[in-house]
Amino acid sequence: MIKQTERVMSSAYMQWAKTHLQARFNLASSGLEPLPLAELPVKIDNLELTGPSFYGYEPLQKALAKKCGVSPDCVVAATGTSMANHLAMAATLRPGDEALIEQPTYELLVSTAQYLGAKVKRFTRSFEDGFRLDPNEVARAASTRTRLIILTNLHNPSSALARNEALKQLGKIAREVGARVLVDEVYLDALFDDAPSTAFHLGEEFITTNSLTKVYGLSGLRCGWVLAEPALAKKLWYLNDLFGVIPAHAAERLSCIALEHLDEIAAHARRLLETNRRLLNAFFNARDDLDWMPLNFGTVAFPRLKNGSVDALCALLLEKYETSIVPGKFFDMPQHFRIGIGCETAMLAEALARLSKALFDISARPYPRSARAGNSFSLRWPAKRERRGQKRPQRERSK
Ligand SMILES: Cc1ncc(COP(=O)(O)O)c(C=O)c1O
Repeated sequence: MIKQTERVMSSAYMQWAKTHLQARFNLASSGLEPLPLAELPVKIDNLELTGPSFYGYEPLQKALAKKCGVSPDCVVAATGTSMANHLAMAATLRPGDEALIEQPTYELLVSTAQYLGAKVKRFTRSFEDGFRLDPNEVARAASTRTRLIILTNLHNPSSALARNEALKQLGKIAREVGARVLVDEVYLDALFDDAPSTAFHLGEEFITTNSLTKVYGLSGLRCGWVLAEPALAKKLWYLNDLFGVIPAHAAERLSCIALEHLDEIAAHARRLLETNRRLLNAFFNARDDLDWMPLNFGTVAFPRLKNGSVDALCALLLEKYETSIVPGKFFDMPQHFRIGIGCETAMLAEALARLSKALFDISARPYPRSARAGNSFSLRWPAKRERRGQKRPQRERSK
């Protein structure tokens, strides 16, 4: 446990992610499979190494502003949503300020706020409530010390959508206590034509962040941005002089090309996600060893393992089945795990088959003593699909 007074200098989650996303069957990624460069109509003449990029590269500023329906002076280009979040937090949080962050959430939001010296307070989005954004929870936790309310939309890890009515109520709460609302919208475009416009439009207290990373398979471009009212946007640009100063110009040029072709890229992503969601929901439907919600949009789901250890499941899945999922402990919900569905459909089908096998294996293992007080060893009856034709295992006597 990190004490509030300690300055966080690293991210356990990011270290885990960087060393586990290379599994042969990767369900740990939250984004779309990478789009190969060959899919973009790029000619060498379109690229240049150095260009007029100081407080933004004008063609990219204009393209991002057009995409978001805002004026270019509200756009601050950044290296991925990661740097966009860092900039937004660094500009609005001073050491000792309170950051009120959803629970569960993307770990980097918490560790970045802690790195900046903020006191982190949490408000709950509960599994039982479909991870819904409940403004009453936020109101209960907010105080006059709160400077920033932070959430993800779609929600990482569950893909739950926070609707405008709830977000507006957050804006009202923030106004009352003199805070702002930071909405990380890196998964919002996964709603495609049904996506609501950015929460930036809901009021001056809203700051939003996004990138082309997750929904479009363009992680390598690192094309991210913050939307903020112009005075704050200027502050962010000046703050960025202390961090990245200027980005790689070739990446800016490539980002402009990607933005010109975003509709085609989105059409591919949409088709893939729709197919993969059907597959995932069919997998969930066949299981009675998981608590789950159907995935209606988004790229990730966050089921709960009814019995047994998720850490043991993850380890077995990786070692025996070369498949990775994200353990729920990185979201402070150790009985859950996150499944990403942005990979190719055949890969997802195989990975889910392997997950089934690993779930079967761990269901046949005795419970660890710690999991069942007073009844330390027993056998679980496996999931519906796998138990056909099998005899029910005998319960071992408690030791
Ligand atoms: C909620 C959220 N924000 C930001 C990021 C990082 O995005 P990017 O790759 O654009 O820096 C992630 C990555 O998983 C994420 O889940």
